[in-house]
Parts: sequence; structure tokens; C-alpha cells
Amino acid sequence: MLAIIGGTGLTRLSSLAVAHREMVRTPYGEPSSALLFGQIAGRDVVFIARHGHGHTVPPHRVNYRANVWALKNRGATAVLAVASVGGIRGVDPGDLVLPHQLIDYTQGRETSFFDGGDRHVVHIDFTHPYTPELRAKCLAAASRAGTALVDGGVYGAVSGPRLETAAEIDRMERDGATLVGMTGMPETALARELELPYAALCVVVNHAAGRGDSAVGVSMDGIVRVLEAGMGKVRALLDHVVPTIDRSAP
Ligand code: HPA
Repeated sequence: MLAIIGGTGLTRLSSLAVAHREMVRTPYGEPSSALLFGQIAGRDVVFIARHGHGHTVPPHRVNYRANVWALKNRGATAVLAVASVGGIRGVDPGDLVLPHQLIDYTQGRETSFFDGGDRHVVHIDFTHPYTPELRAKCLAAASRAGTALVDGGVYGAVSGPRLETAAEIDRMERDGATLVGMTGMPETALARELELPYAALCVVVNHAAGRGDSAVGVSMDGIVRVLEAGMGKVRALLDHVVPTIDRSAP
């Protein structure tokens, strides 16, 4: 069953016919929201709102471990994450991007299920953080849906909740990051730890600090407008992606 993690602007999915909802208890505490189980295009799907259904959980307070653990525990076999990002290079507000790499700049988050104690030490392979097969299905679905989806991007994950300084974005660009967002890590790595194929659909909602029309500052009003249109595209794309996901594998 495909899991969808909805980000800012996607706290509910209109095409999801909800059969039931469940608040899952986990060894890591409470997930951000109840899991919604239902169907899209006749396929079982489970949905979680990363920031809570009322959008009250900020990026640095999201219990990423509880969210990912709950999805796996209730039968998810792959995860499609939806997130809004700032564009650093080569993309513009309104673009939909499927990143292929990431750089982790976050601090102070619980980053692993393998935390010592009585657990054995595990080092996951993370060379390719986004699962290639799942990415390929997203790209194929986008072309069928007639939705423009940028193939590839380097997601720079920051802690937030503040936006970046222009100098921080300059440094990230020198590092090779093309997108900046606050929720990609540790979510992506935690999915890998639980052997869940994972891909991210990123909606560019603003030029990153110091870039383009954010040269003098990032406008929140602008973000809200672009976000709504971008999530419309995401919804249309999900309706095409879901039927291509096998019930048991990516
Ligand atoms: N920076 C970090 N996270 C973001 C941004 C940004 O500019 N836009 C949306 N999420």
C-alpha cells in the first residue's frame, strides 16, 4: 500500500475516499496526525498530514520517527512525500520537482531508529536517497498526466523554522543544492531504515533568500498563492501515480 505524506498545503486529499482513520501509538511517541486509510483510483492508500490536520506542527517539532514507523506498521510498502521548497537554482516558483539527491543541514533532530541501547548498530546505504524505481513511476505518471515534473534536484534540508539568510543560500548553492526545504531529513533516511521506497514531490513556492524576487526578502503572501496552485498539480499527479504502484513493492 502506498503512503502519502502531505506537507504544507496538502493536509487533506480530496480524491482520497476515506474508509477509516486511526491514531497509531508508536514506541517513538505520537505521529503528527491520525492516519487516513482509503482509496485513490481504486487502490488502497494511507495518508498522513506531516504538520497535523490543522497545520499546527512546525518542521522542527514533527515527530518524523513516529510518522514513518506508524506508516510502516500499518502496512505501507512505499512512501511518496509531498513538500514545499524554496528554489535556489534552475527552478522557479510554481515548478514541481522530483529531487534525486539531498544534503542534510539539519541539527538537533532524532535521526535514526537505531539509537543504541539494546539495538544493534545499523548503517544504511544512502548513496541514492530517493528510490530510483519510485522516481521513474512518478516521471512516467507525470508525462501521462501532462504535468511538467522537473527530473532531478538536490534537496538541501534545513532545520527552520526561520528562512535562510542570503549567505546561507549562497553556501548551499556552492555545495550543489538546488532546492531548500525543512522536512526532507530525517524523513527520507528513516524511510530507508525501514526499507520503505521513498520519493519526494517538491513544489517550489518561492525563490530562496537573496534569489530572484526574494532578493530583498521572502514574501509569505506570494508563497501562499503559489502553494495552492502547486498542490493542485500534485493532486492531479497523485491520481496518475497511485495506480502504478504495486501493492507490495515500489
Ligand atoms: N527555505 C526553506 N524551506 C522552505 C522555503 C525556503 O525558502 N520555502 C518553502 N520551504
